[in-house]
Amino acid sequence: MISTDLIKKRILIIGSNGMLGQRLVEFFSSLTDVELMCSSNEDASLTPNVQYSQVDITKKNDVKELILGFFPDFVINTAAYTNVDKAETEREIAWKVNVVGVENIALYSWTIDAHLIHISTDYIFDGKNGPYSENDKPNPIGYYGRSKLASENSIRSSGVRFTILRTNVLYGPAKYSRPDFVKWVISSLRDKKEIRIVTDQINNPTYIDDLVSGIQKICETKKEGVYNLGGQELLSRFDFTLRIAKFFELDAQLVRPILTQELNQPATRPLNSGIINLKAETELNYKPRSIEESLAQMKAELNL
Ligand SMILES: NC(=O)c1ccc[n+]([C@@H]2O[C@H](COP(=O)([O-])OP(=O)(O)OC[C@H]3O[C@@H](n4cnc5c(N)ncnc54)[C@H](OP(=O)(O)O)[C@@H]3O)[C@@H](O)[C@H]2O)c1
Repeated sequence: MISTDLIKKRILIIGSNGMLGQRLVEFFSSLTDVELMCSSNEDASLTPNVQYSQVDITKKNDVKELILGFFPDFVINTAAYTNVDKAETEREIAWKVNVVGVENIALYSWTIDAHLIHISTDYIFDGKNGPYSENDKPNPIGYYGRSKLASENSIRSSGVRFTILRTNVLYGPAKYSRPDFVKWVISSLRDKKEIRIVTDQINNPTYIDDLVSGIQKICETKKEGVYNLGGQELLSRFDFTLRIAKFFELDAQLVRPILTQELNQPATRPLNSGIINLKAETELNYKPRSIEESLAQMKAELNL
């Protein structure tokens, strides 16, 4: 009789303690046909009862040991330097993590012919003409976006089998992360705090579990190339906030409209952005939930 271990998919999640990473861990650890290995920068896994190895992806030899030691079929890279504003001043570290780290992962994934699934962002675009399809020409306007575009390019030139998944504005029920935008809005409005929200940043916020289901579909279909995996609805951050306030029956009068330039943030934001999901809908049967369905799931799961 053939042992079931032999037919298990071997999946390595890098960045497993991050917001997306921990939700992927929760999902893939529940599947019986998956042998899972988790890895992130911290000493221990935030999600209990999983195989875990601490690795800094900028350290080439450690990445080599991790990938060659586990010999995955799929490497899912969610690790990144994600602080958009700090990336403007901490350029060296942002580059090291987002480019050199990804080069290391791509090299050793290629070495063992693993399929690399890498998460990218709409911040590779300038936000003049969104929403963007997979074929639109990138033109990042901030250092985070430049480093993420460079990471995409390093994967393309590595020779590895890859899928690049571009997403935008993640939210969802990650238990161990810093509060995401939705949780921040809810707690601010419950505390009766006025919040200033931009009316001129347009995108399609993405519920993490939709992205997780898109990643699962890539593992099933082994489709390669670039796919957009965003939310169902394109709207301004201000309108998104009003939808959250309405759903949770909070005081929408506390939500004040402002323009991005009034925030004086170090990094320039793409304004007219967002991503078009048509390719993923057609080829992967990707079906993102509505905002209200997502908020209902968050409410139930997190007791919000
Ligand atoms: N969140 C969004 O709205 C959004 C939108 C579009 C695209 N994305 C992309 O989606 C992916 C996941 O984002 P996320 O929000 O889940 O990010 P996140 O919560 O910031 O998680 C990133 C993880 O990577 C880890 N990491 C950082 N440097 C590392 C290193 N040198 N070695 C190993 N691990 C390292 C981080 O650990 P530490 O916390 O210890 O640094 C963290 O656990 C990223 O590629 C991001 O660019 C996110």
